[in-house]
Amino acid sequence: MQINKETFETIIEGQTKLMVPKKSLTEKVPPKVPAFFNPKAKLTRDFSIIAYKAFLKNFTGPKIFLEGLTGMGARGIRVANELELDKVILNDLNPSGLELAKYSGNLNNIQNLEFSENEICRFFSKYSQKGSRASIVDIDPFGSPAQFFDCALRATMHGGILSCTATDLQVLNGLFQNACSRKYGGVPVRTQYGNEIAIRLILGCLRRVAGRLGLKIIPLYVESNFHYYRIYVKMHTRSDQKENLGYVTHCKNCGHRKMVSEKIDSCELCNSKNSFGGPLWIDKIFDREFIENMLQGISELNVDKSCEKSLRKCLLESEMPGIYFTLDEIASRMKSSPPKLENAIKNLQNKGYMSSPTSFNPTGFRTNANVKEIITVFSN
Ligand SMILES: C[S@@+](CC[C@H](N)C(=O)[O-])C[C@H]1O[C@@H](n2cnc3c(N)ncnc32)[C@H](O)[C@@H]1O
Ligand SMILES: [Zn+2]
Repeated sequence: MQINKETFETIIEGQTKLMVPKKSLTEKVPPKVPAFFNPKAKLTRDFSIIAYKAFLKNFTGPKIFLEGLTGMGARGIRVANELELDKVILNDLNPSGLELAKYSGNLNNIQNLEFSENEICRFFSKYSQKGSRASIVDIDPFGSPAQFFDCALRATMHGGILSCTATDLQVLNGLFQNACSRKYGGVPVRTQYGNEIAIRLILGCLRRVAGRLGLKIIPLYVESNFHYYRIYVKMHTRSDQKENLGYVTHCKNCGHRKMVSEKIDSCELCNSKNSFGGPLWIDKIFDREFIENMLQGISELNVDKSCEKSLRKCLLESEMPGIYFTLDEIASRMKSSPPKLENAIKNLQNKGYMSSPTSFNPTGFRTNANVKEIITVFSN
């Protein structure tokens, strides 16, 4: 492939020069040929840089990054250029993507880069033996990442981090329940907080695969966006004894919601029949210390301003009970206009409840008050 000025263009993302197909900058849906590059995914790559930096801060082992699906290397080249790693190995099946990644590597004068043209699981399996596993492993597929969980986990070292993206939003949001059950081993329930259910389904699936392999996952940070979901987990090579899989029960009549280990058929507030989502992850999804480290590192990076704002919300919600509410759904139950988010949270706190905003939804909030209690607080 000829990398010429007619077809390709150099852009700067973060602190990194990237050689990208011109059409990926102009067309609504970025083309997959000669290689896939999505300029709109800059924000998620910014978050990756912030998260990996936070992880590397306290990590003392060999700093090796494996990217199973690198495309034209946007994330991987940024990682190699903007962070301090011993080795960065980028893999993809598409040789044109790898050629562009090599070109960008040279543009940035990166020395610690290696490339691999292989099927992702064959690539990861080269690093699955103790002693050769990586400290950071990433999977960024078109669609569901679930098919790659086994080989990605095996290539992640004890204490390392595994990150992955899911873009099969329709499946995870409940449009195709059977496909979701097949791919993730759980089903969503259609609610206003579908993005949190989706993230918990991905984590639940990864938890089950990890359990089968005698491994433990600890969620550090998760990200929800209009176009993708993304999770970052720490991996331990010991089995998890904790009951962190269960269900979301949702009452369509009164709006009561809860995460439970065992299904409860009727709503504890109004006795109507509950709906269920799951099995899914019912434990914490943010690690407070990790988010603090992410926030601390931001000032040294060139990332979008909105990252800090979003992470501040993650910090506040990191110790909150699971499953958020939205102002709109409470207002529609009360048949009134919604209060300001800030006031809603303050009112709940003044009445002795825990409450915080959530990074999942601009009008969302978390609280340990149930829907009835929220309505009572908002009515006064
Ligand atoms: C969404 S793109 C990756 C985007 C990239 N991570 C970025 O940040 O720009 C998915 C990539 O997976 C590659 N791919 C799909 N199936 C694969 C497989 N089984 N093994 C290796 N690469 C594969 C495609 O060639 C494509 O480049
Ligand atoms: Zn109810």
